[in-house]
Amino acid sequence: MRHSARQRALIVAGAALAGLLAGAVPTASAQQAAAAPDIPVANVKQHLADLQSIATANGGNRAHGRAGYRASLDFVKAKLDAAGYTTTIQQFTSSGATGYNLIADWPGGDTSQIVMAGAHLDSVTSGPGINDNGSGSAAVLENALAVARAGYQPDKHLRFAWWGAEELGLVGSRYYVNNLPSAERAKISAYLNFDMIGSPNPGYFVYDDDPAIEKTFKDYFAGLGVPTEIETEGDGRSDHASFKNVGIPVGGLFTGASRTKTSAQVQKWGGTTTSFDRCYHSSCDTTSNINDTALDRNSDAIAHAIWTLSSGTTNPPTGTVFENTADVTIPDYGAAVTSSVNVTGIPGNAPSDLAVGVDIVHTWRGDLVVDLVAPDGTVYNLKPYSSSDSADNVKATYTVNASSETANGTWSLRVQDRARYDTGYINSFKLTFP
Ligand code: TRP
Ligand code: ZN
Ligand code: CA
Repeated sequence: MRHSARQRALIVAGAALAGLLAGAVPTASAQQAAAAPDIPVANVKQHLADLQSIATANGGNRAHGRAGYRASLDFVKAKLDAAGYTTTIQQFTSSGATGYNLIADWPGGDTSQIVMAGAHLDSVTSGPGINDNGSGSAAVLENALAVARAGYQPDKHLRFAWWGAEELGLVGSRYYVNNLPSAERAKISAYLNFDMIGSPNPGYFVYDDDPAIEKTFKDYFAGLGVPTEIETEGDGRSDHASFKNVGIPVGGLFTGASRTKTSAQVQKWGGTTTSFDRCYHSSCDTTSNINDTALDRNSDAIAHAIWTLSSGTTNPPTGTVFENTADVTIPDYGAAVTSSVNVTGIPGNAPSDLAVGVDIVHTWRGDLVVDLVAPDGTVYNLKPYSSSDSADNVKATYTVNASSETANGTWSLRVQDRARYDTGYINSFKLTFP
């Protein structure tokens, strides 16, 4: 159950009066992720112009089974190969024609944690498909090229995909997922889908699926001061459904298709009370059918999500690791609980840079007070209570100066939930001695 900050402030007031809030001062810092680059919208638009030229040279479309599709795929692949990607063409058959997916892996990162971004590259037969879905295809391409330009070395592994035959019913993406062994599916931490992100009369819609992914996108738009809404124009109508169906966390962005923008939406986003995309699935879905501002914002939002979601390694720092991975339920607004590790074989005192790995799953982390308790009972506060921090989960590595503590003995992660409603559990607790 989620509560507004205002509701929560009232709920928590009782707890504060009851003297449950110790004057907590953070004594440790969490690691920060590298910032995403700005994606040049001019480059994204150049890719759209190139896709338009491909359609024009191939009977006016880039549809499954037509020459314009294969030419689109070869165009994207050549750019990725030149940038250092490992590309794979996956072939399938649909409606009696050969279809193709293009998969591009960026070498490096933890291949057991994959952040994937994709877009369908096919158009309908009736037009060049520049908004649907040259826009998503071009933005994902330019993001992949930006990763290469930045020499980005994410903690997680990055994979990009361009799907065939989406317009025939998500055929290419379903083929990819169906042919992925379950052990490989389990390695995909997130699949991000971009289908129609430059609609000429745009709305700013965020898929309402995985909460962490959704929040990442919403945070980006909040930073721009651009209001968003939940995507409702046919959930499951694009390739993310293929991933969601097998339990892979998904998210994505959308600027609207044939539905009409309401006057309330015109108030918040501008534009007119007409279709978000009056050229949806028609011959006028050309390079003139793009709103540059929407394309720009969404391209940058993709970069923000890719950079944010791919950082945060579970690769242990080198050293001696003591870890407890048993789940411990944290009672709602209840007593503190602990997860402990027994440190042995470390001579003398603990280091001044003891790495404390905290992984707590929770639906409102502000509720939580998180402490490290040394063998002699000394308490080091890692995270204070905060009524305003509504984000999910505490997944961080804190650095603690524990040099006055004897290393050997039982160390505990102590967690107390100090406000009602939201709940969770300790997923793991880890100490790393350098
Ligand atoms: N390609 C999709 C289609 O033709 C476009 C679409 C409609 C869409 N509704 C959507 C994409 C919602 C993402 C989310 O059906
Ligand atoms: Zn589409
Ligand atoms: Ca709670």
